[in-house]
Amino acid sequence: MSIRIRLLLSYTAMLVTTILLFIAAIFLIAIALTGDIQHVRELYTSRYAVMPLTEPEETVSVETKFLSKSSPEQLLDQQFLQELEQRLEPVKAGILVRKGTEIYYASPVLQVAGMNAALPPYEMANLHVRDILETDGHFFTYVKFDFAYTDKTEGGVYVMKEVSPYAELARSLLPVLILFLLLMLALMNGLLNFLVSRSIVLPIDRLKTAAERIRDGELDFRIESSGQDEIGQLSQTFEDMRRKLKESVELQLQYEENRKELISNISHDLRTPITSILGYVEGIRDGVADTPEKREKYLDTIARKAKGMDRLIDELFLFSRLDLGKLPFTFERIDLTAFLDDYLSERKFDLEEQGVTVLYEKAEASPAFVLADREKLRRVLANILDNSLKYMDKQERRILFRLRPEEKQVTIEISDNGPGIDPDVAPHIFDRFYRAEKSRNTETGGSGLGLAIAKQIVDEHRGSIAASSVPGEGLTIVITLPREKEEGV
Ligand SMILES: Nc1ncnc2c1ncn2[C@@H]1O[C@H](COP(=O)(O)OP(=O)(O)OP(=O)(O)O)[C@@H](O)[C@H]1O
Ligand SMILES: [Mg+2]
Repeated sequence: MSIRIRLLLSYTAMLVTTILLFIAAIFLIAIALTGDIQHVRELYTSRYAVMPLTEPEETVSVETKFLSKSSPEQLLDQQFLQELEQRLEPVKAGILVRKGTEIYYASPVLQVAGMNAALPPYEMANLHVRDILETDGHFFTYVKFDFAYTDKTEGGVYVMKEVSPYAELARSLLPVLILFLLLMLALMNGLLNFLVSRSIVLPIDRLKTAAERIRDGELDFRIESSGQDEIGQLSQTFEDMRRKLKESVELQLQYEENRKELISNISHDLRTPITSILGYVEGIRDGVADTPEKREKYLDTIARKAKGMDRLIDELFLFSRLDLGKLPFTFERIDLTAFLDDYLSERKFDLEEQGVTVLYEKAEASPAFVLADREKLRRVLANILDNSLKYMDKQERRILFRLRPEEKQVTIEISDNGPGIDPDVAPHIFDRFYRAEKSRNTETGGSGLGLAIAKQIVDEHRGSIAASSVPGEGLTIVITLPREKEEGV
């Protein structure tokens, strides 16, 4: 059963029980007041019968009743009738005497058109002496007595009073009013059902459509949430789910793209040296290298290419082990100031031999402790220095090391005065296989793994690495590592 139908049924059931309980309550109250069910019916149909007469009406009606039995002719005495009329005046009632088919006498208050026709037929048993009659839009309550004159003509005497037409109208329209009330209830029921089902069923329908679209792989749309209620929250959760799913699908695609690029790069970087090695071997075999000097030169090239490949495979292996998190790190607490001092004094000789001036700036002599793997950190510095030497295009070669211990971290800056790079590509030089010049010429660059490896290592240290550059003036690599607390603090 759909929620819509269930709501409709529950509303209808509620309405029906309310009406039944309402009717039962009315009956119970009426029975409690009147004694039995018959009286309940009479209560409605007996109209004014239950309404007590006023004192003048009472006495006048008793007297006329007595007279009609003893000396009915006296009821034809105008003067006597006027006397009675005066007694009835204070309660706005009047007297009416009937003889045969005519009205013999009627007080002025009872002189209304059509009165004669509205009077009930004679009923000598006098069972229904009190009732109400209507003529010309006027309502009268009466108490009457029918009798026979001495000449045997039928006659009747009425004590009558006009009553408000509204009370009588309300009474006669009561069934219609109740029907109208029930109709209104039914309408309200329909309206409520419509409104509630619109606020529940519609959003659920929308969610269902959205879920179906997601199932069919469509993720490029927004699920609008309709408010802060439970369904609104559910829609919001659905929207979050759709967004997360989309992100993860996009990430998956990105990975897939990366993997394809990686394979294509590896194939390219391996095929190029192999092709030239094969070319040189062929040259030696075919006797193109016909002098010992030429042969020597060919073999040199083959050895150089093979070494390059060996280095590339080493780097690839290292990178993939870092990527998979399979390379063990042995972290120890080291003083970065002392570490850098050692590293530089170790490499100073070799660097100066290549005509490089090494500058070292440290802000303070105090130790700056970090948690690091010495070997891996040396690898990072070596890869950066390698690049500075490899890409240097100036006569005067300078490399500046700067160590800046801060409160929460320690920063190492390595700047060279080489060609630098376009600042736009600075964030990309840490991507695997990224090379600023696209030809992938093996003479001027490597495979693009050096900085990717450095980044993997720094990441493993929970640090960060970034590059900034002014093209033509040099490149600066900035490494930050989280600082350890001083010994004993
Ligand atoms: N000091 C630098 N000056 C100018 N460009 C640089 C410098 N360091 C890196 N680059 C640019 O960043 C790219 C990526 O450097 P990375 O060290 O990752 O790769 P690579 O040096 O080309 O190859 P590999 O280090 O694997 O032999 C380089 O190809 C080069 O274009
Ligand atoms: Mg490099």
